[in-house]
Parts: sequence; structure tokens; C-alpha cells
Amino acid sequence: MEIKKIVVIGSGTMGHGIAQTYAANGYQTTVVDIKPEALEAAKKLVASNVKTMLNADFITAEQAKATEANLFYSTDIKVAADADLVIEAVPEDPDLKARIFAQLDGICRKDTILSSTTSSMNIYEFVKITNPERLLIAHWCNPPHILPLVEIVKGPETDHEVAITMRKLLEGMGKSPVVLNQAVPGFIINRLNLALMRECSYMVEQGWVSPEDVDTAYCCNQGMKAPFEGPLKMMDFIGWDIGCMAGMFLYPSISNATEVGPLAMQMLDEERLGVKVGRGLYDYSGKTREEVQQERDARVLEVVKLARKLKAEK
Ligand SMILES: NC(=O)c1ccc[n+]([C@@H]2O[C@H](COP(=O)([O-])OP(=O)(O)OC[C@H]3O[C@@H](n4cnc5c(N)ncnc54)[C@H](O)[C@@H]3O)[C@@H](O)[C@H]2O)c1
Repeated sequence: MEIKKIVVIGSGTMGHGIAQTYAANGYQTTVVDIKPEALEAAKKLVASNVKTMLNADFITAEQAKATEANLFYSTDIKVAADADLVIEAVPEDPDLKARIFAQLDGICRKDTILSSTTSSMNIYEFVKITNPERLLIAHWCNPPHILPLVEIVKGPETDHEVAITMRKLLEGMGKSPVVLNQAVPGFIINRLNLALMRECSYMVEQGWVSPEDVDTAYCCNQGMKAPFEGPLKMMDFIGWDIGCMAGMFLYPSISNATEVGPLAMQMLDEERLGVKVGRGLYDYSGKTREEVQQERDARVLEVVKLARKLKAEK
């Protein structure tokens, strides 16, 4: 099926960035929210994102124009009636998501692809729709208009062709989709993040190293190669014989904790929740949250541009 019309339900952190990406790539996209003020906020965010991306040469002037021309806003979910693809991006609440998909099931054509941006839930356990072969998860990363990864997670009844359609659609917009054949907790990326966070926290908790030095060790080693060399490819360069020997020796000493450790609990107790409150392991006071995020995003934009260039040269 050719995808032309797209509806995104929820205009928050993920919804507005996903919608603007489709619009920039020529798809007629409507973003729906129950709150008119959320739509107003989304409009402002999209305008500011487009400005930043244009200034950074991340998008072309044509794509900036297309974003404006192709993006519509509505408070009425019934606009999904003639959509080819609907993307659910409402908060991570199973009852709410189940309700939205039940509504969409009544509104949409029976061949409309329905997808969820859930970052952690096995929606296939509680979303009940007719023709479940058209249901899938497409988990974009934050910020969605910048980061290339999208995890496509198939359910037990998802048609392989639907996953392929989604994959091609995303690839056509310069995204880097990956397909997970079943919904395992954390999908791919959060399993990796948590494995790394467990060991990083453990080393700090043991008093072996400061948090700053753990971050430096990561950024100045794996971080330098990350855009073009994943952890498995890295083993090809290290040599699997060396890797096996290191594994035999090191696995017994690596954390196998099954609970959140003392470092994270301390951060909660001290209300050092991170950028959103101005203080986490690092101190962000003296700058607004927006300033801190903009600085981070400007750097990420440069890295993604470099990664695109390296991919094109491959
Ligand atoms: N925030 C992230 O970093 C991130 C990253 C990846 C995936 N996700 C996932 O994406 C989804 C959306 O998260 P978010 O951070 O964008 O949430 P958010 O709270 O920023 O935005 C959700 C929006 O949905 C709207 N909404 C609520 N009920 C609605 C309804 N019945 N109809 C229409 N709109 C409704 C809200 O008004 C809000 O504007 C979640 O499943 C989340 O797990 C989030």
C-alpha cells in the first residue's frame, strides 16, 4: 500500500517531532491532541526545530517549506478516517493506549497501518483491534526529528509485509530502522542502555572511579567510534579470540545486579533527577532547561550529519 496521509495522535515530546519529520518528507500529516494548548506548544516547537535544523544545514530549505505546507493540527481524532498510517504517541499508560486503538479501530479503514511509539510496553497483550496484522510498534528515539534510530517491534500477528512497508518508509526519510521479531522488555536499545548503566553505576558505587571519569572513558573510547561501529563489529577489530578470553576472565567480576543500585536510589532521595530539575550527577544551574537541551541537540545534529556523511561514503 502506498502511504500518503499520516495522522499522529499526541503532540508532545515525541508526537510533534515525528509529525514534522513526515511532513518535511512530503507526507500530508495531521497531528491530533485532546489539548488545544498542547497543539499550540507543538506548533512553536516545530517552528523552533525547523529553524535550528535549517541553520545547521540538517534539512534543506525545501524540507523546511514542506514541513509548513504538509503539517496540520486538529483536536478531532476522526481525521484518522482517511489516513494510510496512524501513529499513536500518547503517554505510556496501557489503558489510555488501549482506548485510543479501540477508537482508531472504529474510525480508520481496515487496511490502515496502526503503530505505537511505546518505549517499553508489550502493547500486543492489551490492544485489541480487527485485522491485528496491521498493528506494530515503531519506537522512535528522542529527539525524533534528529536521531535516526527507529525500533520496529513486531507482534505475534504483525504481517511481515507491514513491517517491511514501515521499514522502507523510514529508510526513505533517512532514518535507520531496525526490526525486532518480538516484543521483549526494553526492546533493543533500553536493554543495551540498562546493561551499560548497571555496570557504570556499579563501578561508581564500589568507589573505584568517579562518575565524570566513567563518562570520559566511554565518550573517549566507544563514543568516538559509535556512529559507525557497534559493539559487535568492535569485536571484529579486537579479535573474537581476545574477546572470548576477556569474557572468561571478566564476566564473573561484572555486576549481575537484579535491582536498581544505591547510586540511582541516592539520586532519587536527593531529588537530583537530572536536566529537568537543573541537577543530576552534574550541575546545570545557571542555564534554563531549554538552553541545556539546545546545546546538547546542536552537538547531536553535528554528529548525525557526520554519521550521514560517513554512511554515504561507505
Ligand atoms: N519522551 C521520550 O523521550 C520518549 C522516547 C521514546 C518513546 N516515548 C514514548 O512515546 C509516547 C509518547 O511520549 P511523550 O514523551 O511524547 O509524551 P508527552 O506526555 O510529551 O505527550 C503526550 C501527548 O498526548 C496527548 N494526549 C493524551 N491523551 C490523548 C488523547 N486521548 N488523544 C490525543 N492526545 C492525547 C497529551 O495531551 C500530550 O500532548 C509514550 O509511549 C512514550 O513511552 C517517549
